[in-house]
Amino acid sequence: MGRPNPIDMAKYVSARRAVDYVQDGMRVGLGTGSTAAWMVRCLGELVREDGLRVTGVPTSSRTADLARHCGVPITTLEDAKWLDLTIDGADEVDDDLNLIKGGGGALLQEKIVATASDMMVVIADPAKRVETLGAFPLPVEVIPFGWQTTKALIEESLIGQDIGGRAVTLRLAQDAPFRTDEGNMILDLHLRRIGSARQLALLLNQIPGVVENGLFLDIADVVVTGRQDGTVEVRDINHGTTTDERVDLRDDDNLFAGVTD
Ligand code: A5P
Repeated sequence: MGRPNPIDMAKYVSARRAVDYVQDGMRVGLGTGSTAAWMVRCLGELVREDGLRVTGVPTSSRTADLARHCGVPITTLEDAKWLDLTIDGADEVDDDLNLIKGGGGALLQEKIVATASDMMVVIADPAKRVETLGAFPLPVEVIPFGWQTTKALIEESLIGQDIGGRAVTLRLAQDAPFRTDEGNMILDLHLRRIGSARQLALLLNQIPGVVENGLFLDIADVVVTGRQDGTVEVRDINHGTTTDERVDLRDDDNLFAGVTD
């Protein structure tokens, strides 16, 4: 096996540290994306090799497939109802642990699952940390019915907001509109800088046709930022602590073999 690239290494290290929060018998929300995929693989290893008993609630069909593949038992949120913990990635994380999510198009299930959890642990590489949210385009999930009208209403609502740009684009996948697991569409808002995330989140969710926006405010409790040198920064907003740690890496050959996500 060759060494993983530095970004993958940072993601892997953050995921490896984050699964320390998982205790026997927990119901755990499983995020979506390349960093969350590392977490699912780490969890699978703990289930297979250490006999950890855990029930996962995946936030996308992609994550459900990976969890099955890795041997992590899964159920639905309808069945689990409330979760002990959710571990998920993010597209941006600010100093108050507010997030932009939805780069992978799974923001709706991700927000429902994270909100239904006692604790949310975000796993990130250093590139995700920002002073101000907004450089990453903000994903907004909209229903297909009348989506152009919804887009126009969003554009109108952005006038006068404390933001750095107002372009709104329909997300595509192979030249066709991208569809979420719910069959909805994603509009990406190129805002460059979001001055008041709280105000914007409320405004967007009042527009008919908008299902949910990718601002996760006051949801995350801990951010684990992995570094390629095998260390992490663990920032806990509730305890007001930030610690630097070295992660005890296992024999990761199996985890790095055949990784595509
Ligand atoms: C999925 O919809 C997103 O919210 C992801 O959590 C986010 O895009 C981070 O993905 P990566 O871990 O692949 O960067």
